[in-house]
Amino acid sequence: MEIRKAVIPAAGLGTRFLPVTKSMPKEMLPIIDKPVIQYVVEEAIDAGIDDIIIISGRGKRAIEDYFDAAPELEMRLSYQHKEETLSRLKKITDFPGIHYIRQKEPRGLGDAILRAEKHIGNEPFAVLLGDDIIANSYSCTGQLMSIFSRFNASVISIEPVPPEKVSSYGIIKGKAIEPDLFAIEDIIEKPAISLAPSNLGAVGRYIFVPEIFDCLKNTSPGVGNEIQLTDAIRLLLKEHPVYGYKFKGKRYDTGDKLGYIETIIDYALQDPQLQENLKKFLVDRLN
Ligand code: G1P
Repeated sequence: MEIRKAVIPAAGLGTRFLPVTKSMPKEMLPIIDKPVIQYVVEEAIDAGIDDIIIISGRGKRAIEDYFDAAPELEMRLSYQHKEETLSRLKKITDFPGIHYIRQKEPRGLGDAILRAEKHIGNEPFAVLLGDDIIANSYSCTGQLMSIFSRFNASVISIEPVPPEKVSSYGIIKGKAIEPDLFAIEDIIEKPAISLAPSNLGAVGRYIFVPEIFDCLKNTSPGVGNEIQLTDAIRLLLKEHPVYGYKFKGKRYDTGDKLGYIETIIDYALQDPQLQENLKKFLVDRLN
């Protein structure tokens, strides 16, 4: 069955980035001149998704405005013959398939995804976390889709994480069945390093069978007193296989301050208009 729909949870409070996230969604933090969430939306579209549900919440209106048309601005740009800027702007708003659902209380990632149940219905779907960018010409979501089409089962993207970061991730226990592919046996949300079953952490891309919704409904608050997606995956594992795939590509955690700075520097170093001068600046500063 084809995956057509994706959920992008973007309702989190962004406490790691306060005070700026007091009035600005963390998903709107700019990577040079594009907000983080645009990279995520583009990845979904590249993978063939035509229906995106963004889970937003209080203080997240900037996301809706961003993907909405801006007729006055467009008219002005057209009047000023700024065709290139205009076409970049149009590209953002031309995709018709973005919908919004609000999570009324910040009850966690699992609860945010559950808000999308009615819209998704009884079909498999993708989840892309709104503050993770994964760079690769073959999108990470596309990579997961190809695993899904082989096994007809849920699959999550994983990568090795350094020991000091293990307690920030959902960590899997799994059996390698092919290079880079694991049959997941268990997954623990943010374990202490001494309790972690491996160093393989779930990152922000998932494909789920619709049965995950029942699991989410039966999940009680866990770490941080929030409904954790990881705990729902544990329930799902009781009846359905779940795979972990070591995706190909570079993941940027823009929800982390250092990760955010690294993202900007890497993207700027790939930008023909910026790279030369930035390199000179960095070398100069490091010296
Ligand atoms: C969430 C998930 C966690 C996952 C992580 C990836 O945590 O709960 O399992 O490993 O995203 O970024 P958060 O970063 O929202 O605390």
